[in-house]
Amino acid sequence: MAVCIKVNGEERSFDGDVVTPLLDVLRNSFFLTGAKDVCREGFCGACMVHVDGVAVISCLTPVGLVDAKSVLTIEGLGDEGDLVPLQRALEEGDAVQCGMCFPGIVMSLTNLLAQQPLATRDDIKRGLCGNVCRCTGYERIVDAALTLARNERHADV
Ligand code: FES
Ligand code: FES
Repeated sequence: MAVCIKVNGEERSFDGDVVTPLLDVLRNSFFLTGAKDVCREGFCGACMVHVDGVAVISCLTPVGLVDAKSVLTIEGLGDEGDLVPLQRALEEGDAVQCGMCFPGIVMSLTNLLAQQPLATRDDIKRGLCGNVCRCTGYERIVDAALTLARNERHADV
């Protein structure tokens, strides 16, 4: 039975074992390599994507569980010439180091800021607790997200 998924707004199907990790389907069958294959144990968050608007660890999600659902990957956000505000804030804040953790971090922060546009520093830190940055550049990442949340706060006044 084929698994049908809307990926970044496009209908895709996967005809294979339903227990195949979503991460592998995205990377190997759909050639969307933004979600990173790092620990494969649910520990690092580098493979984070959204399923029906909820951030999930794609290395531990069997593709059968996302049948008929919508998946958003980092490729579905902005790209080089057209970054979304969060990506721009991270770039302007010089927050990207090797970039291995970044797709997951951007997906986690996108989820957090959608739910809590006025997030505080503590909210942002909590929102990143499932993402490991081996380059340890957390402060600049948190600062960039906080800048966005503060701008939102001022826009509200
Ligand atoms: S690769 Fe999925 S959590 Fe690390
Ligand atoms: S920027 Fe290198 S792992 Fe996070």
